[in-house]
Formats: sequence, C-alpha cells, structure tokens
Amino acid sequence: MPSFSAGASTQKQQNYQRRRQQIREQRKSLPIASVEKRLVDEVRKNDTLIIVGETGSGKTTQLPQFLYDGGFCQDGKVIGITQPRRVAAVTVAKRVAEECNDQLGKKVGYSIRFDDSTSNATRIKYMTDGLLLREALLDPLLSKYSVIVVDEAHERTVHTDVLLGLLKKVQHSRANASKNGKALPSMGHSQNLTQKACQGTRCAPLKLIIMSASLDAKCFSDYFGGAKAVHIQGRQYPVDILYTYQPESDYLDATLVTIFQIHLEEGPGDILAFLTGQEEIESLERLINERARLLPPESSKIWTTPIYSSLPSEQQMNAFKSAPAGTRKVVLATNIAETSVTIPGIKYVIDPGMVKARAYNPVTGMESLIIIPVSKAQALQRSGRAGREGPGKCFRLFQESEFDKLVDSTVPEIKRCNLSNVVLQLKALGIDDIIGFDFMEKPSRTAILKSLEQLILLGALTDDYKLSDPVGHQMARLPLDPMYSKALIVASEFKCLEEMLIVVSMLSVESIFFSPREKLEEARAARKGFESSEGDHITLVNVYRAAAECLEKSKNANAKERTMEKALTRWCRENFINHRSLKHARDVHSQIQGHVQQMGLNLSSCGEDMSLFRRCLTAAFFLNAAMRQPDGSYRALATSQSVQVHPSSVLFRTKPDCVIFNELVRTTQNYVKNLTRIDPLWLAELAPQYYATED
Ligand code: CDP
Ligand code: MG
Repeated sequence: MPSFSAGASTQKQQNYQRRRQQIREQRKSLPIASVEKRLVDEVRKNDTLIIVGETGSGKTTQLPQFLYDGGFCQDGKVIGITQPRRVAAVTVAKRVAEECNDQLGKKVGYSIRFDDSTSNATRIKYMTDGLLLREALLDPLLSKYSVIVVDEAHERTVHTDVLLGLLKKVQHSRANASKNGKALPSMGHSQNLTQKACQGTRCAPLKLIIMSASLDAKCFSDYFGGAKAVHIQGRQYPVDILYTYQPESDYLDATLVTIFQIHLEEGPGDILAFLTGQEEIESLERLINERARLLPPESSKIWTTPIYSSLPSEQQMNAFKSAPAGTRKVVLATNIAETSVTIPGIKYVIDPGMVKARAYNPVTGMESLIIIPVSKAQALQRSGRAGREGPGKCFRLFQESEFDKLVDSTVPEIKRCNLSNVVLQLKALGIDDIIGFDFMEKPSRTAILKSLEQLILLGALTDDYKLSDPVGHQMARLPLDPMYSKALIVASEFKCLEEMLIVVSMLSVESIFFSPREKLEEARAARKGFESSEGDHITLVNVYRAAAECLEKSKNANAKERTMEKALTRWCRENFINHRSLKHARDVHSQIQGHVQQMGLNLSSCGEDMSLFRRCLTAAFFLNAAMRQPDGSYRALATSQSVQVHPSSVLFRTKPDCVIFNELVRTTQNYVKNLTRIDPLWLAELAPQYYATED
C-alpha cells in the first residue's frame, strides 16, 4: 500500500493543535494552577493581598487570567500588572496572549515607555511601574482598573516604592468615593481631576495585589495595614552550588573559562551567565564566539544570546528560543534574568556575584553607577534558575567565605538614587508634602531636600516648591530624567531642539561605539570620522546624522524597508557603531519627538552654529560643570568632587579648561563621561541662578 503524507495545510493544522495542547498541559502543571479558586476567592474577600511564590510558579502569567475568568473585567474594567522591567512586560504579554489564543494587543497587551501595544479591547495589561505612574497623572484614580497587580515587588525599584505609596492613596480615595457615591477625598492639587475621573464611572474599590518572589512578605503586609499574605508552593529541583578555591581577579575572564569548562565537561543543558551590563555582555559574547571557532569539529556548537533591558525587544526574545539540536545555548544576562523572566532550558548558572547599581550621595546630589557585590537574596535567586526544569549546577565565581560576607538583601533603590524624578512626579500628582508622603521606606530628608533644590534650579519648581507653569508641567509630562526634559525645553528656546533631541536619545542608550579588542585601531580610525573637537555630544549628533543619511540614501534608491535595515546594519559594522544601540536610540528619538511636538516646542536646528549648541548644552547641564585642575584632573563645580575624564571621551587627550558632562561612573576613580568643552564665562551668563557671583 502506498504511504501518504499530510498536505501542507493539514500539517499546519496539526502543528497548531499540538502547540495548543502543549500550552494547556504546561499551564495545568504549574504550581499555581491547583490554587486558582482559592486565589480568586481571596482577591474577592481582600482589597489588598500579598502573593509570594518562587519564580516560575506561574504568578505573572496565570493570576491575571484567573482574575479575568473570575469576572474582574466586567464593565470593560482592566486588570493592570506592573513590572519593574520593560522586557518582562513585553515577553509575558506575548506569552499570555498566546495562552489565550489571541493576538497581542487585543485582550492581552503591554504598554511600556516608547512602545504601546494595547487597544480599547485590552483587558489584561502588562506595563512598567513607571508607566502606571505616568497614567496616574492623567487619571488620578486609575479609574479604568479593577485590579492592579504590582509584580516583582521584592526588587524595590524606586518606581515600585513610589507606586505602592500612590496606590495606597488611590485605594483609599476610591473606597471613599464608592461609599459616598462621589469623589470626596482630596489628593491635593488634583482634586478637580479626581472628581472628573469619577464622573460617569462607578468608582468601585481598587483591588491591589502585591507579588513577590522572595519570602519577605511581612514588610509589605505591615505597610498595607496587616494585609493577608498567601504563599504558593514552588517546585524546585536540587541545585549543586560550586565555589572557586581562589578569589578571581577578573570575573569576565573567569566566566569565559567556566563557560567552556561546562561546555566540554558537563552533560547537555543550557548555560545562563549573569553579568553587569551591555558592555560586558557584548565583549564576552565576542570572546566566546572567537574561542568557539577553535573548538574541535566533533564537539557540539555554542550559541550565545544576550538579554538586557536596553536591548530591543525582538532581540530579547531570542533568549527564549531553544537552540538547534547539537548546540548549547549560552544566555548572557543582566540581573533581569534573576526573577523577572523565566528562560527555558537552563541547567547551569554562572554567577560572578556582581551587579551594577545606582548610588547616590545626598550631600553632593550626585548619582553614579557602580559595580558592587550582589546580596545573598540575589545570589540565591540566581542559583535557583538552574533548578527550574531538573537538577542543575550553579558556579559561583567567588569563595564560599565571601558568600557569608554578602548583605542579606539589597538596599531599596529609593535610598540610593537621585529623587528629582520622583519628587517631580509626586508634585505633578498633586502631592505637595513630599517629606510627609507615606513611603514604605523613607528616603533621607537630605536627599529629598537636595532634589527639591535641584528642581528649583532647573526651574521645575517655584521658590515656594510649587510646580512651575509651564516649565514644571512640561517637564513632568516628558518621560525623561528632569535634567534631560529641561534640556529639551531650553533647546527649543535656543533654536537647536533638533540637535538636543538627538543628544538626549543617544544618551538614553548604552554604548553607541564599539571597539572589539582585536580591531581596536580600525575602530579608532572609524570613530575619528565622526569626532568633533568640541566634545562627545556633537560627536553623537554626527553619528546619528550619518546613520540617517545612510538610510535616506537607500530610501532614495527605492529600497524596501528590509533592504534599508540591512544597509544600516552594514554601515554600522563598517563604522564600528553598535547597531542595537543605534536602533534603540532611533526609537527613543521618534517617541520623544512626538512628545515635544505635542507640547508645541519648536523643532529647529542651529545649523552650522555649534557654539550656539554648546551654549545651549551649558544652559541645560550647568549642574554638571567641571574645571580642569593644575594636575590634569577635574573638579565638579557643584560638588567639589575630584573627577577624571573617562578614556572613552573624545576630550580625553585635549583636556579643555572647562566642560559639562552627563554621567559619573565610579570604578577605582570617579570618571565623567559624555563631555563638551565650554567657556567658563558662559556659566554665570547662562545659569546666573547658580553661578552669578555677588559683588
Ligand atoms: O511569575 P512567575 O515567576 O511565578 O512565573 P511565570 O512568569 O508566570 O511563568 C510560569 C511559566 O510560564 C514558566 O515557568 C514558563 O514555563 C512559562 N513561560 C513561558 O513559557 N514563556 C514566557 N515568556 C513566560 C512564562
Ligand atoms: Mg513573575
């Protein structure tokens, strides 16, 4: 009898059915599945609920679906789930849309800064916590939401902490509003808005769910007046923890060696290595690929895939794909992969024990990025990633005695960052008494006062601490750091908004230039072509414009979008520009451009007059000015801190008398990055509120 194969369409249908079945089974097997009814009942009974469960138990993907099925989206109400990270919001929304067998953006969607996939039909909405804070500016009672889930609360990002305080207030206002049939309580300035928000809608009480992977539910429960906590039993396979015998002086090199050791000596299973940021990830990725070429032909292959916050989301999704047969996947991740996202297939974890963190000096008002040891809680979360699907191994690249010295848990970010953004947001929400705000953990008084002072200097607040009109309101509306928002407003006055828009977009992404170790000279020569002797800002403008020109050329040649993209990729490679970063900067640019146009700012260019643009940079970033000292180091004027020019700056060798800078990095020394040469006299002229001397 002849044999028959299924037709293409039947084959497709079968694959589809298989995938549906697989998803149904996966969902059913999650630890959270067995407690669906209980969870929904608890949410009905309690206005605030805390849910604690090990990563991978199904909290983020399943709970919103349970609530949807449990009737929490009646009358078009929405379930909002906040994430500290963009990547988690995007990947989870995609997964849940698939589980619901629906297109992304219909029932399930996500909304993050610079990217919104939701529609009027969206009922389960994943978003970043920062985005929900912005929504509260327009709708102070968050009236479209029946439930808000604050996910990954244990991370205690600054946005999570502010959001928790705000949600507590909103919950209270909504409870009162529904009791009295109208909006009563004042949220400060926004009372009118509050009443508007309630008109025509019934303000049902807001259900609040706080979800966390770590076991410290008590602090959340205390903060919410003894709210009930539910624990979900996780499923975790044993993980062997291995330490090094000796301290490792170069953890990047140690990671590289460990990856190949695992690849050559251990059984099948993917590797997840935790690094501190994009630069480290990219340089390690190159080293791995170089070394992988030397593997004997009979050995299995290695496939590296990076994942970090500023990576464009379609590239982040690669990390979730499985490697082809006979290939080992090596995921190079930041702490994003600790709890936010679950990457399938991981059996080996490499933990160098370091993390990049924000640090803040409230006295000087300076924020910096530093690389510090992880906390015990983080190290445990990291090793846990190896035991998701079966027994695994975690290689800690430090000695066992070092583990005991780690702090138990990370200090909440709100205690170690510049609060200008937070204060500006709260002010815009009508919350005037910042020091009296009910923070879960109060930032220091000095830090709050310093940021109030900074906002007055930037013109966002009046001398009596009120939001200024229009500047303060405009700044609050822009999804940027207040200093960058101010820069755009100033630039519009200086008639060089076009240039500043490029600078702000380019500064919003990490490392535009890339210099592989083996081609250092070529990379340097390529960069020369863009360099401006005036500094890094104009250099960045030159890069951006050259890239735009390359796209324009292929557009004029009637190229299709894909061909244009390819031309840009090639251009980036030839010019040693980081294609990923440039793409991200272009996205950010188009989004902010939309914002500033809405605000009615004038999108003009200063043309060839770069000294006008440098004056504009001075007027915008006067708080970050530094003067050269006789020994060649610099002194930051606002803080009297001694700083060095970072070797990546085009001004590293020329060392002008006076500069403004945008970033402070602390390694063995304080380095300033992204500099422009300015005339010191401009400071008193353009920022008299700060530099004018009394005579
Ligand atoms: O939030 P929690 O860590 O408790 O778990 P989750 O994110 O809801 O993930 C539950 C399970 O869903 C994971 O273990 C994965 O099997 C699956 N999942 C997935 O396949 N793809 C995603 N993007 C997210 C989750
Ligand atoms: Mg989760």
